[in-house]
Amino acid sequence: MKIKKAIIPAAGLGTRVLPASKSVPKEMLNIVDKPAIQYIVEEAARAGIEDILIITNRGKTAIEDHFDHSFELEYQLAKNPAKASLYESVKKCSSLANIYFVRQKETKGLAHAILAGKSFIGDEPCAVLYGDDVIINDEDPVIGQMCRLYEKYGKGLVGVKAVPEELIPLYCTLDVTPVEGEERLMDCHNIIEKPEKEQIMSPYSILGRVILPPGGMELIQKGIDETPDGEEFLFTDTLTELGREGRLFAYDFDGVRYDMGNKLGIMQANCEVALSHPEIGAAFKEYIKALAASLD
Ligand code: UTP
Repeated sequence: MKIKKAIIPAAGLGTRVLPASKSVPKEMLNIVDKPAIQYIVEEAARAGIEDILIITNRGKTAIEDHFDHSFELEYQLAKNPAKASLYESVKKCSSLANIYFVRQKETKGLAHAILAGKSFIGDEPCAVLYGDDVIINDEDPVIGQMCRLYEKYGKGLVGVKAVPEELIPLYCTLDVTPVEGEERLMDCHNIIEKPEKEQIMSPYSILGRVILPPGGMELIQKGIDETPDGEEFLFTDTLTELGREGRLFAYDFDGVRYDMGNKLGIMQANCEVALSHPEIGAAFKEYIKALAASLD
């Protein structure tokens, strides 16, 4: 079955990047000249995903505006031939894919946000791209790599990367075994969220991309229904259940990931993308070299 739909949860509070995220959604923080969420929508669109649901909340209308037409701006830019490429770049924002929005009415965590897309997804498999994880691969978008594997094997997937041991307790740890004949693919048997050091099972953690097979939404719904009021049901618990049922792969994706949910990640993304930017790359490189030479 082909994956045609994606969900981008973007309704979190973004407390790690306050005060920047107080009135600007953290998903709208830019990498050089585009907001993070545009990179994510473009990744999904380049993978052939036609319908994208963005989960927002009442403070995130800037996201809806960004993917809508801006009539006055487009009209003014269109009149000026010298601004043709700017016009194209602005117009493109509203035609990347069919983009829909739904609000998560209370900020009750990632699983609760994804569940807001239940009726949008129906019985289909879907891609989930976390709204603050930008992953760059200019030739082959990471979510497209994962969609192909879903289409081949019919199992759910989590996108993973080996992370330094001291960071694993901040993320999660996975019990994995390699899949013969597939270089980057592993069977995933178990996941522990925010493990103690002695619970670490492998260097891999889940970073920002998931393929949810049909039935995934029902598992989230069941988990939330069974969780006492006031406690958060973790999305990882749904993935763990899929793993225990033998329905989950871990995929060591081919791409560079930037965590736009924390300050250092934002700076790394901006520096690295700026270095290869067609307009400012060369000048920025000179600046960085001079800056580096001046540091001790
Ligand atoms: P995070 O785990 O980074 O949570 O969410 P957060 O609340 O946004 O950030 P901090 O920890 O307060 O700094 C991962 C993704 O899930 C979305 C976020 O918008 C982000 O894209 N999310 C998180 C929701 O959509 N709803 C939620 O209730 C929580």
